[in-house]
Amino acid sequence: MSKVRLHDKDFELFIPEGEVHAAIDRLAGELRAKYNGKRPLFIGVLNGAFYFAAELVKRLDIECEITFVKVASYHGTRSTGRVSELIGLNEKLEGRHVVVLEDIVDTGNTVRHIMDSLLEHHPASVSIAALLFKPDAYKQDIPIEYVAVRIPNDFVVGSGLDHDGLGRNLPGIYRIINTHA
Ligand code: IMP
Repeated sequence: MSKVRLHDKDFELFIPEGEVHAAIDRLAGELRAKYNGKRPLFIGVLNGAFYFAAELVKRLDIECEITFVKVASYHGTRSTGRVSELIGLNEKLEGRHVVVLEDIVDTGNTVRHIMDSLLEHHPASVSIAALLFKPDAYKQDIPIEYVAVRIPNDFVVGSGLDHDGLGRNLPGIYRIINTHA
């Protein structure tokens, strides 16, 4: 399937599943080398990271733990502005090596919120691993240390990523081509 319509938008195949898997293979090799013997805690950010998390950890033959969180974002008081809260984090992070698994890093605002929340728990280290990274859209200074695939600043779906709820189940990555009125 090289083209697909989701709601009002058309998408075309951009990165075939085999290439996505090869990129995750390479990333798993990097993470294995870095975290073997450190029992890392991988934290997948739902909903989008379910696919990346599963594909990554099944390639990691090291002792590790995996859990998932959701980011709830809401308007706080006028002085605090937009507030984000991590939901579902029950593990003790103090002294742990934490790797956040993101489906995609775009502006980096989500990563910023997650990082701020996690650092309050005094982990030994926190790194970010992303299936996809849009360097041209990124506005933060937090290093995105582990990236499977860098992509241009286009809207994409598939491999866990959605357009308004649809497309997460598509194998590979699809890129937007047009919108219908
Ligand atoms: P950021 O906070 O701007 O980095 O955006 C992160 C979140 O926006 C991701 O976790 C996605 O949910 C969503 N997002 C950003 N770009 C895309 C895209 O191209 N396709 C689907 N979702 C996206």
